[in-house]
Amino acid sequence: MCGIVGYVGRQNATPILLEGLHRLAYRGYDSSGIALAKAGKLSVHKAKGKVRALESSLPKRISGTTGIAHTRWATHGEPSDRNAHPHVDPAGRIAVVHNGIVENASGLRRVLEADGAEFESDTDTEVLAHMIARSGAPKLEDAVRDVLQKVEGAYGIAVVSADEPDTIVVARNGSPVVLGVGEHEMFVASDASALVRHTSQVIYLDDGEMAVVARNGYQTSTLDAVPTDKTPTTVQSQGDAHDRGDYAHFMRKEIAEQPEAVTRMLQGRLDQRFMSAHFGGLNLEPRALLDISRVKILGCGSAFISGSNGAQIIEQLARIPTSAEPASEFRYRNPVIERDTLYIAVSQSGETLDTMMAVQEIKRKGGRVLGVINVVGSTIARLCDGGVYLHAGPEIAVVSTKTFTSTLVAFALLGLYLGRIRDLSPSAGRRLIDGLQKLPGQIEEILAGEAHIKAVAEKYANSRDMFFIGRALGFPVALEGALKLKEVSYIHAEAYPASELKHGPLALICPETPTVAILPRDDLFEKNVSSVEEVRARKGPLIAITHDGELPVVVDDRIDVPRTEPELDPILMGIPLQLLAYHSAVALNRDVDQPRNLAKSVTVE
Ligand code: F6R
Repeated sequence: MCGIVGYVGRQNATPILLEGLHRLAYRGYDSSGIALAKAGKLSVHKAKGKVRALESSLPKRISGTTGIAHTRWATHGEPSDRNAHPHVDPAGRIAVVHNGIVENASGLRRVLEADGAEFESDTDTEVLAHMIARSGAPKLEDAVRDVLQKVEGAYGIAVVSADEPDTIVVARNGSPVVLGVGEHEMFVASDASALVRHTSQVIYLDDGEMAVVARNGYQTSTLDAVPTDKTPTTVQSQGDAHDRGDYAHFMRKEIAEQPEAVTRMLQGRLDQRFMSAHFGGLNLEPRALLDISRVKILGCGSAFISGSNGAQIIEQLARIPTSAEPASEFRYRNPVIERDTLYIAVSQSGETLDTMMAVQEIKRKGGRVLGVINVVGSTIARLCDGGVYLHAGPEIAVVSTKTFTSTLVAFALLGLYLGRIRDLSPSAGRRLIDGLQKLPGQIEEILAGEAHIKAVAEKYANSRDMFFIGRALGFPVALEGALKLKEVSYIHAEAYPASELKHGPLALICPETPTVAILPRDDLFEKNVSSVEEVRARKGPLIAITHDGELPVVVDDRIDVPRTEPELDPILMGIPLQLLAYHSAVALNRDVDQPRNLAKSVTVE
């Protein structure tokens, strides 16, 4: 989703801003732009499409030591040069970049138009530029503050002015803004990953906070002008996460990183003494956990799907009634919040607005929320009462792969921990720990079989529709397999519980519509085989994701994964489906890392 970068210092801002834009590209965007403040004037350049298009449209000599830049993901108005940020006032003296949505933009725009204002774009952001220019306040900081008092909605903004060319004013309400502290230079971004190459010292603004950023420092305050005291925190270097290395795509690289990601997830978390799991940050004593009579898991997209798996795992291992719900639905239905329910929010980015609003709703009503989150220090992580970090490393491809797998491992650990506080036996705990420890090596084995999975993907890549079926723990695997395939290959893919096939979707099974069946050799194997027979009888091509050994039903293709404990099957069975989606997309020549219309971090409603 939209990204902001800013720089004020002694160096030429242009290469720093462009490099920051490249780093933010993974969030998904449709246009980009840059504004430099120099010697009392602004130079603003924008282009639809990739950052490369912006780079090649820039004049040869463009410099300035203060600037802001943006990658836009369209909300108000189509993707175009005109609608790209930064937006300026009519005199071209104020430039604004903005993430989020100004909800009362059309009302504010009408008022300005009635007063003679003319707009160049269809965006809500241009309204802000006009209002700041008209504010009449002597300083940029005060003008921005005045305007934000009139604005409703969620935003992260950065503003520069030709009249104060050594300053950037930023503000945050619902959409992240991070400051980076350097030596006689300061950085601004919507995502710390755009800063880490330059500094490890960052300041996360809180909602309702703004900052005046200059080369030698920053001042933070509330939107009501009350000074706030913020000290920098240290963020870890993200190594070569933004470098694809020899991989053709980040998605493929991140699939390959899963053995290490799972190893990191397990590190220090297996309790061999009590056959349980360790968590450093739950902030809940076992006694409090004993009082829990229900668990509710919330997330969006793949995070919700991983939560559906987590719900089954926790219910099975800890015998606590557990359910999962899309956070985007939960937040709108005035949910009943119970004292003895443990709420768990899942989010890779920790910035998804729907999930954040669900957490805020729970907390407002006095509920307790744990986070299962990848990005350390992210908004949702800071809102939660405690939680589990995935430590999967930055995920750059828009679609989630390694963080999905790590989340499943997190839920297996949570299930083990909650189970061992209750009635799960030490021997069952031992069995799970042994299974968990083998996972990284088993994922390596699956990855080693990539050539076969690629051949299967290429065989079916021209299908118009595909089904994914699975039962119980296999159903979230099917859901994720279908989501991955549709996201990156644009093949229409639907997931169904295998048991539901005969209640409708069988009508669509035909020789042109392949079905991927999740077929672990667990207690439900025979039942799943019956569902596969139903597809076979309608001449639907079949791809089985299964374990070694003869199958009692004929399938067209099979992909075997190593055997593990039944509770851990989804972790391994999801991996070939990621490769299936990836190779289908490559065969169809899709933009794998930035699929159309998708954004990495969905910070709008
Ligand atoms: C799917 C995908 C999305 C995200 C969803 C939630 O591949 O990436 O469905 O899972 O937008 O994002 P987070 O986990 O950042 O809250």
